[in-house]
Amino acid sequence: MTTASAPGKIILFGEHAVVYGRPALAIPVTQVHADVEIRDSDSTGILIHAPGIRLHADLNSLPSDHPVAAVVHNFLFLSRVSPSPLTPLPKSEGKFPNLNITISSTIPVASGLGSGAAVTVALVRALSAHLNHPMKDEEVNAFAYDIEKLHHGTPSGIDNTVVTYAKPVCFIKTQPIEVFNVHKPFTIVIGDTGISAPTKESVADVRKLWEADQEKWESVFDEVGEIAKQAKERIETGDWKLLGGLMDQNHALLQEMTVSSPELDALVEAARKAGAAGAKLSGGGRGGSMIALAQPEKADDISSALISAGAKNTIVTQVS
Ligand code: MEV
Repeated sequence: MTTASAPGKIILFGEHAVVYGRPALAIPVTQVHADVEIRDSDSTGILIHAPGIRLHADLNSLPSDHPVAAVVHNFLFLSRVSPSPLTPLPKSEGKFPNLNITISSTIPVASGLGSGAAVTVALVRALSAHLNHPMKDEEVNAFAYDIEKLHHGTPSGIDNTVVTYAKPVCFIKTQPIEVFNVHKPFTIVIGDTGISAPTKESVADVRKLWEADQEKWESVFDEVGEIAKQAKERIETGDWKLLGGLMDQNHALLQEMTVSSPELDALVEAARKAGAAGAKLSGGGRGGSMIALAQPEKADDISSALISAGAKNTIVTQVS
């Protein structure tokens, strides 16, 4: 039996603008994770079980672009087990592995917490260990990015990167990965609206705005990039008090991009009223999650305020 696991993530600063080459900061969230277990099977074929999404199916019966099937097909092609990606495996030939793959995840789907990237990374790591095809982190990351592209259109690559390396990352598209240091730990409260919102749609809508007025949106993205840069400096020098104001500014720009929602705004407002130093939506928006910067002793109050304002779930996490 082989197991592998990958954490969730949140974006602290810079979502959406990161798609257009500006810097963004993201951290792993280890309180939630995707877990994969692979066992050799007595029956022929590759059986996939994901009880959380009521999936129990033979690999060949799934559409080739199914998020889980695509990972397995691409991996078998990469490791030269299968002659081409997205091709059903002929069951009769003994050279194909017979496997039982079980996937479970505590990361809510389409919640801004990176559930898709985490399942991909955990699954490819489990396959690589079980089928004896070692992969370096950068290979896992590149593999997961290809899968993200399949499902999210034009992703920046930040989600797969932070989930693969499980470290705080300052991410700029096409540039080498930069891990940032946290001088003084700080506390973040995450509130989940419980509304599932596909990143693909909000990213596509921001692209439409950009296509209609590139000059305006390039300058908004510059502002967001500057906020992310300043936030990184503050985190690295331990001067995190001004970070709250930067979060508020970033949220206002995300509202301008039309990716907030009444539910997200209500949670952001409730967190501020309960004493958060700042708050913003996190990830693709329109639903999913928001984050609030909290003094540790206020985290529980902020959590309760978020639940009263409609959050389906909260997580308190330390950035360190
Ligand atoms: C999604 O977690 C972050 C976005 O910026 C999309 C991306 O970077 O691919 C909204």
